Amino acid sequence: MSSRRYTVVSVPATSANLGVGYDCLGMALDLRATFGLIRSDELEIHGCEERFRNSDNLVWRSFLTTLAALGVEPFPVRIDIESPIPLSGGLGSSSTCVVAGIVAAQSLVNDEVDQALTLKIATQIEGHPDNVAPAILGGIVSSFVADGETISTRADVAENLRFVTVAPPYEVRTADARRVMPREVPLSTAVWQMGRCAATVQALCSGDANLFGKACHDKLHEPYRKLLIADYEPLRKVALSSGASAFFISGSGSTMIAVADGQQKANTVAQAFSSVRKDLWIRVLSASSIGARLEQH
Ligand code: HSE
Repeated sequence: MSSRRYTVVSVPATSANLGVGYDCLGMALDLRATFGLIRSDELEIHGCEERFRNSDNLVWRSFLTTLAALGVEPFPVRIDIESPIPLSGGLGSSSTCVVAGIVAAQSLVNDEVDQALTLKIATQIEGHPDNVAPAILGGIVSSFVADGETISTRADVAENLRFVTVAPPYEVRTADARRVMPREVPLSTAVWQMGRCAATVQALCSGDANLFGKACHDKLHEPYRKLLIADYEPLRKVALSSGASAFFISGSGSTMIAVADGQQKANTVAQAFSSVRKDLWIRVLSASSIGARLEQH
């Protein structure tokens, strides 16, 4: 049973879809949020906006779901959050909360963390595995659900690739971004996506930025979702004309990512982004091979 130990979980930001991999591909980035949890007399939440400091908090709800799955009576905790991930959407900030709550519950109760259980509960809570799987496993992860089980395959992303990540100062809610999607697509669109999806994984693993650029032409979500992001077209134009190999909406937006071959090109793209508008959040990130981990337990 849990003691008053302080457990600290760190979880990476993630980018889902990666162009053509709608709801099946995701990648961990070297930008991490940390969550400290300790048993307490009542629920206390620190380090986040006031609107998240209540019993609807995603870390807390995921923590409770996991206690229930472990057959343990609920108990209150203090939660300390430190997250550099923008809340405008598209970098898996909610997945970091979900994964942290699940991992922390196991750590406090069992002293050990079952990765398969974490993936199962996280996918149930999120509804799709493309952010939570890389947040747990690190690297690039391809996932699908079969008979209720999430099957994920991971690989490391090549070290030369840089992901110039740009978040505008407005949110696109995932529910809104999913509402604009078509319900059905023609067979020709399915074929278009499948070939490019396989090439995208190969390009990320081998570091072939040129191949990534050729494959990165999505027909499932991006044509509809770009209409929700006012700065999509100017940023895309600037990215591709300043040396990026590809440009895509990260997850359901509003964050967007330009892919560059090496740090120098990435810095040029980042500089070019800052000329579009002054209030953009811009970071040059690498992929991370490290998923969620206990920093202290
Ligand atoms: N695959 C999801 C989507 C990611 O594109 O809607 C956002 O949760």
